[in-house]
Amino acid sequence: DMGGHDTYMHKEIHEQADAVDRALRGRIDDRFSTVHLGGLNLDARDARAVRRVKILGCGTSYHAGQIGAQMIEELARIPSDAEPASEFRYRNPVVDPDTLYIAVSQSGETYDVLAAVQELKRKGARVLGLVNVVGSAIARETDGGIYVHAGPEVCVVSTKCFTNMVVSFGLLALHLGRIRDLSVADGKRIIEGLRKLPAQISEILANEEQIEKLAAEYADAKSMMFIGRVRGYPVAREASLKLKEVSYIHAEAYPASELKHGPLALIEPAMPTVAIVPDDDLLEKNRAALEEIKARSGRILAVAHREQEKADHTIVVPKNEDELDPILMGIPLQLLAYYTAKAMGRDIDKPRNLAKSVTVE
Ligand code: F6R
Repeated sequence: DMGGHDTYMHKEIHEQADAVDRALRGRIDDRFSTVHLGGLNLDARDARAVRRVKILGCGTSYHAGQIGAQMIEELARIPSDAEPASEFRYRNPVVDPDTLYIAVSQSGETYDVLAAVQELKRKGARVLGLVNVVGSAIARETDGGIYVHAGPEVCVVSTKCFTNMVVSFGLLALHLGRIRDLSVADGKRIIEGLRKLPAQISEILANEEQIEKLAAEYADAKSMMFIGRVRGYPVAREASLKLKEVSYIHAEAYPASELKHGPLALIEPAMPTVAIVPDDDLLEKNRAALEEIKARSGRILAVAHREQEKADHTIVVPKNEDELDPILMGIPLQLLAYYTAKAMGRDIDKPRNLAKSVTVE
């Protein structure tokens, strides 16, 4: 039942305010400015002993993991990174007892992720799951974890589940941070930011008409460049993947700083750039990248917290705490992918060659 929407993708994009609300419900602890994560199965002593975090997933879930790794590193000050589960599995990785491994998966059945979990367990590692489907294989095989509570996701491409994964990583980062060195004041600041998310998501979705018009503007592109820095880079990668999957327009994502090391050669009017430009300490750096692109007569669509002069168009999104901004900045780009695909008459819920869960190697 699509409840008045033309596709599940559209329906699921619009469910995100409720989905995020569900991920937060019953978990916030105002007394200690932290969150409770019932199924984590990691006591405070264990949490303090963690020296690294390694996040494993595929596709969109891997991108959520990249944002998650940054959140954990920023809020809990634990060195963290994300890697595609299959790459990890095939390179005979060093499995370290002081590393906390986290497997991220919507379905909880993705073979490459499951196999990585089993290999880690076999070697005695501690593995948590960040999973949507309750009781799925990855949820069962991990030592504990967090359900992201996005609800059933039917469209082959992931939208609301991505958002809830990133929110769940925010919760985990806050929880680990408050067991370690994150101050009460910072804990409060992040909790306030989390509480603002559902209303801010509704605000972004209310701007749908602008995004539909922009999609028509850019649908003639043969290829699109997505750029961001640090927090914005995984957002750019995920937006680029979403556009490819549903519209079949070729897209690439680069850290903004890497443009001048090669990809700038591609910039011309037929190759528009989508730039993630948050109002944070990298704002001036990001503006400089927009100038470089403009100087090569590239068209620019910015996703930013205020209108960007150098951009041809700006989608303005509400500002949250710097660490939580990536949760919101990708949402208008889900709509951009959707409307671009729609204008091109694509089979949005079932893109060619793709399956909802990849249970084979
Ligand atoms: C992209 C998409 C895929 C999945 C990937 C992992 O929109 O849906 O990239 O994210 O196949 O699937 P899960 O999260 O079920 O492990």
